[in-house]
Order: sequence, then structure tokens, then C-alpha cells
Amino acid sequence: MAVPRPSNFISFRMIIGLLMVVPGMVIHQTEAARAFFVFGDSLVDSGNNNYLATTARADSPPYGIDFPTHRATGRFSNGLNIPDLISESIGASEPPLPYLSPDLRGRRLLVGANFASAGIGILNDTGIQFLNIIRMYRQLEYFQEYQQRVRALIGAQQTTRLLGQALTLITVGGNDFVNNYYLVPYSARSRQFALPDYVKFLISEYQKLLMSLYKLGAQRVLVTGTGPMGCVPAELAMRGTNGGCSAELQRAASLFNPQLVQMLRKLNRKLGRNVFIGANTERMHTDFVSNPTAFGFVTSKIACCGQGPNNGLGLCTVASNLCPNRNIYAFWDPFHPSEKANRLIVQQIMSGSTKYMYPMNLSTIMALDSMTT
Ligand SMILES: *[C@@H]1O[C@H](CO)[C@@H](O)[C@H](O)[C@H]1NC(C)=O
Ligand SMILES: *[C@@H]1O[C@H](CO)[C@@H](O)[C@H](O)[C@H]1NC(C)=O
Repeated sequence: MAVPRPSNFISFRMIIGLLMVVPGMVIHQTEAARAFFVFGDSLVDSGNNNYLATTARADSPPYGIDFPTHRATGRFSNGLNIPDLISESIGASEPPLPYLSPDLRGRRLLVGANFASAGIGILNDTGIQFLNIIRMYRQLEYFQEYQQRVRALIGAQQTTRLLGQALTLITVGGNDFVNNYYLVPYSARSRQFALPDYVKFLISEYQKLLMSLYKLGAQRVLVTGTGPMGCVPAELAMRGTNGGCSAELQRAASLFNPQLVQMLRKLNRKLGRNVFIGANTERMHTDFVSNPTAFGFVTSKIACCGQGPNNGLGLCTVASNLCPNRNIYAFWDPFHPSEKANRLIVQQIMSGSTKYMYPMNLSTIMALDSMTT
């Protein structure tokens, strides 16, 4: 489907170039940009699900309405998503293509690859209603397959080098609540676990996934938490209490995110270096959920594209309500941030204080790495 071609990407880069002139923003570009790998769910899927038999997809309008090509690519955004904006910030020539894209071959493999798949979670039983999606264990298998292909292209030594210098992003966990534990009343997992025990279980399974990534060669792994899940337009519409956020899902986020950072801290201590970098996306989101106008949004409660209360019910389709100006909405659809919100998040990831980033922001990490390589 409509993945950005090199010709499109020229305009894509120019557009970003103009928009990236943000005061105080540090952008470090190394001569040869490092490879970038992406794992996780719809917040970072750039189109893998286009190639799968699943209902979790974003390959038809109005998705992509503000993308450089103005076409739906499979990104769950009106325009760019978080991986696109990180790619740009680290000086990559283009964002990594979805692993399932037939265009991902030859030298383009050296840019990296995006293995993410909308609907997946930490657990295999998350998102079962979406049928054929790429679960985490499978994303890791694809990563191994990718490495074999790169080895065949540039040899073992250069491949090790490419992996050693690469940046990896993983965003997963939200669906383990929304599309598993809280999917239906009395779900299997909610009967098995009280919420605090479920969170502990998720964190221990997530830790295994992160260690697998490390063993597969990932040296710098940016790990994002979940957003304030109870405050997304979908939850406001479905279980909001008196027009407020869903208390249960807010509780889930407030248990999960601190334990995630604690786990990253523990892993880094064990490994003796900062392999894992935590982004407090809950806090970043909460900033503009609690004070939207300070960030140029008219609302964070109503999705730009959707229907029903808060435009929070069902899917974003051509038949949905669509806001005329996507830049003034924090949420593009009932679950996913707008490009504008993604931009604010990536700005914090790159240059935020330690209130937002553990143990430090990405531009500092990148600067440290370019001094040692
Ligand atoms: C998920 O499923 C795969 C394939 O069946 C299996 O190898 C893996 O161990 C499962 N992961 C968990 C956490 O159960
Ligand atoms: C990014 O991190 C570095 C190191 O912690 C810090 O000195 C710098 O102030 C941070 N940037 C911002 C905007 O806080």
C-alpha cells in the first residue's frame, strides 16, 4: 500500500525540516545515521497490518489525510507517527519501512525496520479479536530473520556494527488492558488476576521481552509507558464517570508506568549500562490532557475523527465526523494522538527533563553515543 517512496520522502523531510525549528530543541545528526528498529502496537505501527487479514488497520481515508502523500499508509494518525518523528530527529534518511513491505530490501534494510503491529500486547492472548496480527514473540522472530538478511547483504562484522549503533523503540502494554483485561466484563484475565497482580505479571513478561531484544543485539532501547488510558476519547465515551476519565483505566496506568521504570532501572543496573531508556508518556500526555489550551489544543476530550459521545465510539472511517483542523485536537481518533500531539511527545523524548525521561533524554544519549563510536 501507500508507503512513502523516496520521491515523496524528499518533501516529507523538507516539511519536517521547517516544522522542526522549535526553540530549545537539540538535534544531533551523525554523519551516517544509525539504524532504527521499532516494535510494538498501533501507536508505532507504520503499516504492517496492511498486509495481514485483520480488522486492526488504518489503510483507508481519512487516515493519512495530513501525511505528505495525503494517503492512508497504515499509520494510526492523521499524519506522521512517533517513529517517523524520531527518525527525523536522529537524522535518518527515511523512517524504517514496515517489515512486511515488499519495498524493504537491498540497501533500504540498512535504515532499519518497523516490526510493530496494531492490536498486539505484551501477552499472546491480547488482541485475539483482531485475528492475524504480529504478536511480540513473532516480531522478535522477524528481527532475527531481518538480521540474517542484512548479514547476507553486508557481512557479519558490519551487521554487528549496525546493530551495536542502532536505536530501538518499543511501545506496548496499553492493549493488555484495553483489549484484554478490560475488553469485556469478567474477562478471563480479570477473573484470574486482581489488577495489581495483573500489572506485576505484565511487567515480568515485559522484562522477558526486553531481555530477548537485548540478547538479539539491541543496545539502546527506548521504552515508552502507556498514556493516561482512562482519558482517551474512547474511554470517556464508554466508561467515563460523570464526563471524567475512567477511574479503573487511570488506576491501571498509574500502577503500570512506575513499575515499568523500576524494572528498566533494575535491568540497567544488572547490565551495568543504560541499555533501556524510559519515556514517561503518561506524564507527557497528562500535561496536555489536563491543560490542552497551553499546548494549542481546543480539546483533549473529543477525537477529531469518530462518532458518538466525544467522537469516541467505533472506528474512524469516511462516514465519521472529521474536524477541519487536526492541529488543534490532541486526539486524532478515539485511541490515537494527532500528529501534533505526537510531535509534542517526541520533543519531550528528545530533550525533556528527567521528570519525563529516565535516566535522561534521547538527544543526550545520542550525543554520548556519538562521542564513543
Ligand atoms: C506466545 O506464543 C508463542 C508461540 O506459540 C510461544 O512460543 C511463546 O512462549 C508465548 N509467550 C508467552 C509469554 O506465553
Ligand atoms: C536533556 O538531558 C540533559 C542531561 O540530563 C540535560 O542537561 C538537558 O537539560 C536536558 N534537556 C532539557 C530540555 O531539559
